[in-house]
Amino acid sequence: MAKIREFPDWEKYYREEKVESMPWYHPAIDPDLEGALKRHKIRDGFALDLGTGPGTQALALAARGFNVTATDISETSVKNALKKAKKRGLDVEFRRDDILETKLEKEYDFIFDRGCFHVIAPGKRKDYVGIIDGLIKPGGYLFLKCFSHLEKMKGGPYRFTQDEIKRLFRTRFKILSIEQTVYHGTLSPLPKALFCVLKKPG
Ligand SMILES: C[S@@+](CC[C@H](N)C(=O)[O-])C[C@H]1O[C@@H](n2cnc3c(N)ncnc32)[C@H](O)[C@@H]1O
Repeated sequence: MAKIREFPDWEKYYREEKVESMPWYHPAIDPDLEGALKRHKIRDGFALDLGTGPGTQALALAARGFNVTATDISETSVKNALKKAKKRGLDVEFRRDDILETKLEKEYDFIFDRGCFHVIAPGKRKDYVGIIDGLIKPGGYLFLKCFSHLEKMKGGPYRFTQDEIKRLFRTRFKILSIEQTVYHGTLSPLPKALFCVLKKPG
């Protein structure tokens, strides 16, 4: 059984800290997501950036022409990200939403989860998988980035092996790939991560 990890009060954290100094802040599109969109020839459609935080990925997707919804459990994070979107003339629907009690009703062509799943408590992971399945169109994708078991730093999010990801998601998704990569952000060295491409059967 994985040991229980502690996380900040997300709302307090986004109220008190500058997003640019957060470990996960990466102003450009995540290179693994960019590669996967190219490889799977996904050029348009409805995207959900789940646990959007600073909103960088939502803005990058909107700038590429996707129709983007972006949610986070922190009200402040989505308010601030919306201000950035407006300044840049980008149209993103930012909403405060706890994925485990989601009020989202639409289905998306893909969901990008960069760092939300790996802060979900182990006992809630099965619920997460069911909820995510319900938010993706048949034939749609989940692009999932989480810490890898190879990352040895103290503290931080939960880590996963490729087998753990397979066991958790294979009841609902076809596992297309799970690659070792890094989590792009402000830490040095960049933490070791997994990038997973999961497809909901069509
Ligand atoms: C590691 S950060 C990643 C932020 C962003 N995806 C990025 O890559 O810059 C995790 C984010 O998940 C959000 N979060 C945590 N639990 C959540 C939940 N149950 N529902 C929605 N968002 C959540 C946090 O507020 C935080 O912004």
